[in-house]
Amino acid sequence: MTVESITLIKPDDWHVHLRDGDMLKQVAPYTARQFGRAIIMPNLVPPVTTTAMAVDYRQRILAAAQDYPDFQPLMTAYLTDDIDDKDLINGHQQGVFTAAKLYPAGATTNSSHGVTDIKRVYPVLEAMQKQGMPLLVHGEVVGDDIDVFDREARFIDDVMQPLLKDIPELKVVFEHITTKDATEFVMSAGDNIAATITAHHLQINRNDMLVGGIKPHLYCLPVAKREQHRQALRQAATSGHKKFFLGTDTAPHAINAKESACGCAGIFTAPHAIEHYAQVFDEENALDKLEAFASINGPNFYSLPINESSISLVKKSQQVPEKFGKSDLAIVPFRAGENLAWQLKTV
Ligand code: NCD
Ligand code: ZN
Repeated sequence: MTVESITLIKPDDWHVHLRDGDMLKQVAPYTARQFGRAIIMPNLVPPVTTTAMAVDYRQRILAAAQDYPDFQPLMTAYLTDDIDDKDLINGHQQGVFTAAKLYPAGATTNSSHGVTDIKRVYPVLEAMQKQGMPLLVHGEVVGDDIDVFDREARFIDDVMQPLLKDIPELKVVFEHITTKDATEFVMSAGDNIAATITAHHLQINRNDMLVGGIKPHLYCLPVAKREQHRQALRQAATSGHKKFFLGTDTAPHAINAKESACGCAGIFTAPHAIEHYAQVFDEENALDKLEAFASINGPNFYSLPINESSISLVKKSQQVPEKFGKSDLAIVPFRAGENLAWQLKTV
């Protein structure tokens, strides 16, 4: 029998870019209407590096998402070479910082303040290990001699392996993994290592971005890889294994910043995030594993309670709008103009 509807424990999104100002006001409600909690990326300009900045940013997010008063933004600190480790740990103890984010310098959008050499922040990471405070990594090594498609695999050898040897109990989330190498690494590592997987990396490979004309709205970082990697990600996500959970990496950029001679990286999946995932799990005959991936594995890894409310999805076709927002803030969403099989039921 075909499944016509499913009910899930309310999911959480463990990797979201909400931006600030008018863009924040525009995008926050999409995440807040679907998810109980969201891990908020700190790559603003300037980045969120102190507890005070995170407290203020959280207030702005709550105001932007006021129509969804149960939504809980979970804040992260942006690690820099000279981060104030006392403030970071205090911020964690006060419940402001859920985690800290490592961007290798120059790896992606607004990462110029990122860490130049992970060894420089070892004392901070050791303090985090003691606290059980998770480190979220943008897992790419950057360098003139490194091919953009090899950045993630190189990160495993050059950064992850030594890090786990040196600080073995640190909780690490390998964010938005895009390769078979990363799925295998995560599976072979200890229970303190997990990974998030985006909806778009489950759906597109690099051909989708490049064949038949370049598609700027499918360009993100880490960039989509070969088909064999997409298949490995689909297998990992739909396995239900506790190490893999939902993190959209929804990363809105206004149309003119994407459709440009030097376009920004980032795919905007927020408006239909859970529906994009449902489609993949349905295609893989694994709808019974969606709840583990979307609603259970994440909180378990973060040692947070599982949400008490639930959501329902119905198998009913809907068309994704060509764009969201107006004038200079308009954004083209993932799968713009296409039909989705599933629909979030509004209560
Ligand atoms: C993100 C952004 O735009 O902030 N872009 C992206 O392609 N994912 C940055 C990031 O998470 O790499
Ligand atoms: Zn991101």
